[in-house]
Amino acid sequence: MKEKKIEIIPSLLSIDLKDLKKSIKTIPEKIKYLHLDVMDGHFVDNITFGPFFVKTIRELTDRFLDVHLMISEPEKYYKRFIESGATHISFHIETVGDPLKFIRKVKNEGLFCGIALNPETPVENVFPFLKNIDYVLVMSVHPGFAGQRFLNYTLKKIKILQNHKNMNDFKIEIDGGINHITGKKAIEYGADWIVSGSFLFSGDIKQNMKRILNG
Ligand code: DX5
Ligand code: ZN
Repeated sequence: MKEKKIEIIPSLLSIDLKDLKKSIKTIPEKIKYLHLDVMDGHFVDNITFGPFFVKTIRELTDRFLDVHLMISEPEKYYKRFIESGATHISFHIETVGDPLKFIRKVKNEGLFCGIALNPETPVENVFPFLKNIDYVLVMSVHPGFAGQRFLNYTLKKIKILQNHKNMNDFKIEIDGGINHITGKKAIEYGADWIVSGSFLFSGDIKQNMKRILNG
């Protein structure tokens, strides 16, 4: 059996912005994806950054850029993120009237597309789209802020999704409150992509990455 590849994905919400170039350089080479949290102050109660920041990151690295859109009208803005260098776009299922149509638009541009589920959004809502998307982003905190406590009850979504994998080819991403304890748990439940912000960037990234993987 092929060993499963787990990706540890830094959320740049917690990166040191004072010297961005240097901060990006300190991210270990093993890390192939970066997670960018776009918030609009409407879908969530916080405002972060837009396409301009994504473009700046693109100029500093050629890694995959996993853009997590926590915005109300992703259809209106997604192209600007693609032009800025996003390789992955996820949107919250309740923000789009016709998810399949939107998924096709994103995929037609050559990007990977994911659906994000808030902690209270039933996992079943994503079932009709599992064959069309590349990943499901399971939110393990309420979206809006870094540094929140992991919600244990979201873990069962991973297990349920795991059971749908044999028919469909998608990855399970977990996002929010990940540290060495919750990360290990999420991996045990079947998560493939582990997003971490405040924990990963507190101290030595390489060491923290190892701790997430090994508990
Ligand atoms: C929360 C964001 C997360 C967040 C993760 O709304 O979607 O990506 O930045 O940060 P930590 O790991 O600190 O919870
Ligand atoms: Zn996120």
